[in-house]
Amino acid sequence: MNILNIVSSPRGDQSFSIKLADAIIGKLLEDTPGSTVTTRDLATNPFPHLEAAKLQSLFTPAPDRTPEQQLAAKHSDDAIAEVQAADIIVIGAPLYNFGIPSVLKAWIDHICRAGITFKYVNGQPQGLVTGKKVYIAMASGGIYSEGPAASNDFVAPYLQAVLSFIGLTDVTVVRVEGVSIPGLQDTALAKALATLQPELADEAI
Ligand SMILES: Cc1cc2nc3c(=O)[nH]c(=O)nc-3n(C[C@H](O)[C@H](O)[C@H](O)COP(=O)(O)O)c2cc1C
Repeated sequence: MNILNIVSSPRGDQSFSIKLADAIIGKLLEDTPGSTVTTRDLATNPFPHLEAAKLQSLFTPAPDRTPEQQLAAKHSDDAIAEVQAADIIVIGAPLYNFGIPSVLKAWIDHICRAGITFKYVNGQPQGLVTGKKVYIAMASGGIYSEGPAASNDFVAPYLQAVLSFIGLTDVTVVRVEGVSIPGLQDTALAKALATLQPELADEAI
């Protein structure tokens, strides 16, 4: 198994999404010894925003690109190659202002490419990145899985929608939540890990 680990928190050892993603990967490695892990740290090596030159390069056929456009397209080509090479993708996703961190959005903007990761057939979108499992290791200060703030969760629904658009339909969301709430923060990670065990046991079967 090739596991792709997408890190988007800049908080290193303090990060709950990183701890949760590492726990998921640890379990996957236990279940499938010999797997490889490729880590793409978006916090330390962010993808650039899609500015004019990059957009032009993505919509210009490769043979027609200028040297400048070739360089601009390389970020996207590299990100897509990593996704295509992976059997399992683990995405660390902190909740920032109800959505995903901008570094994670920039990565998504680089992996969604018409004709490469999705296409339209008879007016209907068809995802071209298929046969992979995705885990989203989500971390939030408050509780968003249920209760009054649930409708403000634009992390899990958005990631599920955009990943499914490119063909990644087998997505499991694991939440470490309430990390900013006294009384919940100490047990939040353990609770998330407890939900994880049966899911990963099923995966191994
Ligand atoms: C810029 C920023 C915005 C945040 N916005 C929210 C928010 O809207 N709601 C919330 O519950 N927590 C919010 N938080 C708290 C984070 O979701 C929480 O600290 C989470 O653990 C961050 O993930 P990490 O531990 O992997 O870095 C925010 C944190 C930061 C740094």
